[in-house]
Amino acid sequence: MQDLAGKRIVLGLTGGIACYKSAYLCRLLVKAGAMVQVVMTQAAAQFITPVTMQALSGRAIYDSQWDARAPDNMAHIRLSREADAIVLAPCSADFIARLAHGRADELLSLTCLARPIERVPLLIAPAMNREMWAHPGTQRNLAQVRADGAIVLDVGAGPQACGEEGDGRMLEPEELLEDIVAHFQPKRLTGQRVLVTAGPTFEAIDPVRGITNHSSGKMGFAIARAAHEAGAQVTLVAGPVHLPTPRGVRRVDVISARDMLAACTAAADAADVFVATAAVADWRPLHTSAHKIKKDGSGRANALELTENPDILHTLAQSVRARSGQLFCVGFAAESDNLATHAKAKRERKGVPLLVGNIGPQTFGQDDNSLLLVDARTTRELPRAPKLALARELIAEIAARLPASRLPA
Ligand code: CTP
Repeated sequence: MQDLAGKRIVLGLTGGIACYKSAYLCRLLVKAGAMVQVVMTQAAAQFITPVTMQALSGRAIYDSQWDARAPDNMAHIRLSREADAIVLAPCSADFIARLAHGRADELLSLTCLARPIERVPLLIAPAMNREMWAHPGTQRNLAQVRADGAIVLDVGAGPQACGEEGDGRMLEPEELLEDIVAHFQPKRLTGQRVLVTAGPTFEAIDPVRGITNHSSGKMGFAIARAAHEAGAQVTLVAGPVHLPTPRGVRRVDVISARDMLAACTAAADAADVFVATAAVADWRPLHTSAHKIKKDGSGRANALELTENPDILHTLAQSVRARSGQLFCVGFAAESDNLATHAKAKRERKGVPLLVGNIGPQTFGQDDNSLLLVDARTTRELPRAPKLALARELIAEIAARLPASRLPA
């Protein structure tokens, strides 16, 4: 998916060892469809060569305000006017201080200062030693650049190039890409709190076996990511899956359906939207054996008696908050055939305003899917596409159904 297709990004590098990560960030931005124009300070060029950045971006880099390539010799004006965003990665402590003071004595700070503030966002990815990061001077400067309209991305924690350990590492290139992509998504759910369930549940039979299913959790994780990109505060209640947590999303890991219900009930009071994507196991063993169940020679699983699991979606959809319109509930239906008929019936049975149907065998474990959206009046098909693209469309559909009073103007 080319999430940044057509976007023009000025990638500014300042002096820091994290410049080695900027090479890969540049590559990821280009792969995501962005046109990347690299601008480097003299200090950055001590850490990575302009040749490397030119090769990866496919464009000659800029590193001087006296560069004669711009016909009017005003590179800072052209660069800042042509950009959809300026991303500083890495942004050193010294460069943050320069931004805080509105300095303009070399090309990159000049370009940041000259940018049309309303139209060209400035995203900065700080990178420095933990003491420099924690220093009141740095924190004071960061507060100032934020107040001046810059978006300060997080820093990572962990081992640092200097041998110390702590906060101040630049985010990894994949994390930066996710933040940059999120920045460009429409903020349809600003101020909303979204609760999502994802993945399968696992119902233990004994210490070594259990009942589960093939759900990979990819659709639910994509919905959590899309909701976060749209500006929501997101809690993701995940069954046992091997997926990284989307950036900015609070994740609660659970195993069984009853754990999932407990986690959702605890979070539902502070949610405005609930999206039940999880493939919850319908049944669990009536008794979980503390010891491995042995074959008894009868040829039958006599010890295995099943009982129905609680219906999480139905439980939340019947809550006072949902019934009074404060919690908008969205269900999923994994069917094997007759999608429209089953989805319509399931929407009514679950008592939810919106139900999303899909064909189970065509979605489990896949990176793409197709969906059928069913509400009280209409059905709409979303043709096969990557799950993240579908998730973004679903978020738009949900936002369109929320009371206007709850949404950003
Ligand atoms: N669901 C749930 N708790 C359950 C079962 C299902 O929250 N115990 C939710 C799912 O997350 C999904 C919706 O209900 O949003 C429908 O799930 P699905 O498995 O398709 O339907 P079932 O209710 O299990 O109905 P059936 O198996 O009869 O098709």
